[in-house]
Amino acid sequence: MILGFTVKPEMLVFGGTLLLVLMVLQVLQGMRKIKFKGPLHLKVHKWGAWVLLAAAVFHGFLGYVYALGLRIG
Ligand code: HEM
Repeated sequence: MILGFTVKPEMLVFGGTLLLVLMVLQVLQGMRKIKFKGPLHLKVHKWGAWVLLAAAVFHGFLGYVYALGLRIG
């Protein structure tokens, strides 16, 4: 529980699946199977990378909270 919020395994499965989908989209965009016009292409790829990183760190954090049964507050 984090400040009254409990991490349930279904949430981690959902988050992990969402991350996998985002990662596939990022790779497809990198391979230019998905394209954006002009400079927007790199912009989306760059932002995609940061979104993926933030989501992965958050997912890992929630994984630790769940696995170790941490309690904050
Ligand atoms: C999870 C997968 C990926 C992540 C997180 C990722 C992330 C990034 C990041 C952070 C950059 C630097 C952008 C910049 O500031 O210049 C970049 C550039 C680039 N990525 Fe990816 N990338 C991924 C997959 C791919 C794949 C699979 C390809 C190609 C097959 C690819 C092709 C490129 C290219 C060509 C650039 C350079 C763009 C340029 O400077 O014109 N990326 N990627």
